[in-house]
Amino acid sequence: MKWNGPLKTLISTFALATTVLSHAAPHYISVGNDMAKDLMKSNSHIKVIKEDHNHSLLEVKQSDKLEASLLAHEKFHRCGGFFSYETLEEAISEFDNHAHFQQSMLSFQDYTINQESTVSKAISMAKEENIRNVITKLSSYHNRYYKSETGVQASNWIFDQWKSLTDHRSDVSVELFNHSNWPQPSVILTIKGKSPEVVVIGGHADSIAGFWARHKAHAPGADDNASGIATMTETIRVLMEMNHRPEKTIAFMAYAAEEVGLLGSKEIAKKYKQDNVEIAGVLQLDMTNFKGQKWDIVLMQDYTNAEQNTFIGKLIDTYLTGLEWGYDKCGYGCSDHASWHLQGFPASIPFESRMSEKNHNIHTKNDTLESMGGNANHALKFSKLALSYAIELAK
Ligand code: BES
Ligand code: ZN
Repeated sequence: MKWNGPLKTLISTFALATTVLSHAAPHYISVGNDMAKDLMKSNSHIKVIKEDHNHSLLEVKQSDKLEASLLAHEKFHRCGGFFSYETLEEAISEFDNHAHFQQSMLSFQDYTINQESTVSKAISMAKEENIRNVITKLSSYHNRYYKSETGVQASNWIFDQWKSLTDHRSDVSVELFNHSNWPQPSVILTIKGKSPEVVVIGGHADSIAGFWARHKAHAPGADDNASGIATMTETIRVLMEMNHRPEKTIAFMAYAAEEVGLLGSKEIAKKYKQDNVEIAGVLQLDMTNFKGQKWDIVLMQDYTNAEQNTFIGKLIDTYLTGLEWGYDKCGYGCSDHASWHLQGFPASIPFESRMSEKNHNIHTKNDTLESMGGNANHALKFSKLALSYAIELAK
């Protein structure tokens, strides 16, 4: 079978089960390793042809009691089910080709929610005033344009701020990620866990306004996206104050050059992919402090992972009780989550408003804290969401 995307595979899982059972000749299927183990327990003829860290390529026979096992595995709510191949050659070449992509698209994430006491404590510690202060500081730069001196200074300020919050922890590093084609660096803070899997929480550091002479234009970018960086900074502060030690690695990223085509995040996502880094999930925080009429938090459905979006909806229902949320679409790759999504990693963007109620001051000199009511009450909700996401997914 040609690889046709996880949704198609999910839909055709039952059809494939029927196909596998209807032929006497051997068939080949690739499944997650945990599923392979289970299948082999109840089907003694199954042979392992190949395996990697996450997947096994199995030779199966008609006599193997696959159907019941595959149905049983519905309980895992696994996104991809399994892949089936007609010949050994096809099986091996497809397995080798897609092993890595499957790992990122189809690997089973633990989306359980069971860290109530830690998350409740974290949420109670997040403070509006801290978020407001970071928005005020970052929006005081004339602009944070990726090619301007103040754009470089703003990223260096984020570096210093994140460093001072984490200096006492030997398991935390803060690094500048330099880009070859423009001066503004990205900033990456890593809390090293016991497991190499990485939970990414990111947002862009740059701002932009006008059309001509953008390096000179006044672009406070308080909502877009000082709010996202401030939301992340408070999330980091609380994790440090709690002395939180995650099982998985957590990386916070302040991307350069988003406003000119997602350039910073594109380079970083490509590098993580090239380096075979296992990404458990990506949360994008871009515009968190301008509240729309209808909902508190809006999950964009395009360029994002549906299963992770469902998980985030559950996090809101569990930990941010009383808040309203719903789904909308950007309609295009509107922010850095698209860079990760296009590399095959599960990404989400919880956004401040519906598109139809969006903040019209962005990309102008009027994108200020004052234009958002002079407080960071809305962004505080996103810090609480980021804390619950980080603690539950990196456990
Ligand atoms: N924060 C915006 C994206 C955004 C704006 C999302 C309004 C939802 C509502 C982001 O910084 C941005 O401006 N993105 C660009 C696209 C990018 C590929 C250059 C945009 O929307 O034009
Ligand atoms: Zn933005």
